[in-house]
Amino acid sequence: MKALMLAGGRGTRLRPLTHTSAKQLFPVANKPVIFYGLEAVREAGITEVGVITGETGAEVRAALGDGSRFGLRITYIPQDAPRGLAHCVLIAREFLGDDDFVMYLGDNFLLGGVQELVSAFRAGDYEAQILLAAVDDPRSYGVATLGRSGEIVGLTEKPAEPESDLAIVGVYLFSPAIHEAVRAIGPSARGELEITDAVQWLIAHGHRVHSHLVSGYWKDTGRARDILECNRMVLESVEPRLDGTVAGRTEIIGRVVLEAGAVVEDSVLRGPIVIGTGTKILRSYVGPFTSIADNCMLEDAEIEYSIVFDNASVRGVSRIGESIIGRDARVLPAPRTPAAHQLIVGDHSTVRLRA
Ligand code: DAU
Repeated sequence: MKALMLAGGRGTRLRPLTHTSAKQLFPVANKPVIFYGLEAVREAGITEVGVITGETGAEVRAALGDGSRFGLRITYIPQDAPRGLAHCVLIAREFLGDDDFVMYLGDNFLLGGVQELVSAFRAGDYEAQILLAAVDDPRSYGVATLGRSGEIVGLTEKPAEPESDLAIVGVYLFSPAIHEAVRAIGPSARGELEITDAVQWLIAHGHRVHSHLVSGYWKDTGRARDILECNRMVLESVEPRLDGTVAGRTEIIGRVVLEAGAVVEDSVLRGPIVIGTGTKILRSYVGPFTSIADNCMLEDAEIEYSIVFDNASVRGVSRIGESIIGRDARVLPAPRTPAAHQLIVGDHSTVRLRA
C-alpha cells in the first residue's frame, strides 16, 4: 500500500497567511499540520508516499525533505494548478502503479491515526473506503447520503442544501479501480475534478464503496477558527516539559512546554501552551491554548487561545485572544495621540478591533 498526500491547492480561506506559506505547513502545537498526517501514514506501516505540490512546492520540499525523518520515502508530484482532488490521482498514476493507496488531504487533522482504517480496508473487499463525520454545517464539505442499511446512496460536493449532516473526511482508501473513475469524470461547476464525483462514479458503476463513521476528533484546518480549535485539541494532551530558562517572578500553571533556548521572565504562563526555541516572554501573560513558535518576542503583552508563527513580536498590547499572528508580524501599541488605530494590514487580512 502507498500514500498520496495532497499539499497543493490555494488556501484562499486562510489569506493573507497563505500568500507566503503553504497551509499544510501551518503550525498546530508548533508542528506543521501535515506532519501529523505523515506520521499517521508511517504508523500504519506505509513507507512510499507521493506528495502533490503546487505553487508552494519549494517550501513543502524544504520542510519534508526526502521523507527519511519520518521513516518515509517521498516522491514529489508537482501539479500545475489546483485542478481538483481527482486530478491529483490522475497525475499520480505512474507513482501509484497498481497498488492500493490512502489519499490524505494535507490540511486534514485526524486524531487516532489511520492504522485501523488501513487494516479494515485490507481485510475488506472494497474498491474504496471513505470516512464520514457529522458536522454542524456540511455545506463546505463533500456530503454523503446513506440508505437504511448504511450503504452510500449519494455523494455531493459542497451542496447548497445538504441532505445529511455527514461530511466526507479528507482521508480516503482506494484500490486501483479509482484510476478509471478519475479518467471518466468531467470538471464540476467550480471547474475542478472532484474526488467526490469519482467515488460517486464507482458506486454508479457497481463497485463496492464502504463508508466508515469517524468516532474520534477530525478537523479540516482550512479556516482560521478551525486551526485554533485544532491547536486547542492537540494542546489538551501535551506533556509538560520545561527545557528553557525560567527567570524572575514567573508563575507557571498547568501543562506548559518550554523548548530549550526559550526564556520566560516575570511572566504568567497558564497552560496548556507551547513555546518554541529562541522565544522570549518578558513581563507577559500567556493564557490557555496558545502556541508560540520559534524566535518570537512577547513583551508587556497578554495573549490567549492564539497561534503565533516564527519571528513574530507582540509588545505592550493586552489582551489578544482567538488570533493568528503570522511570521515576522509585529503587534505594537499605538501612540496616545491621536487616539487612532494604526494599521498596515496585508491583502485579504481580517482585523477585529475593540471599539
Ligand atoms: O476536508 C474535507 C473536504 O476536503 C471534503 O469534505 C471535500 O469533499 C473535499 O473536496 C475537500 O474539500 P476542500 O474544499 O476542503 O478541499 P481543498 O481545496 O481545501 O483541498 C484539500 C487539500 O488538497 C488541501 O491540502 C489542498 C490540496 N489540493 C487541493 C486541490 C483542489 C491539492 O493538492 N490540489 C488540488 O488541486
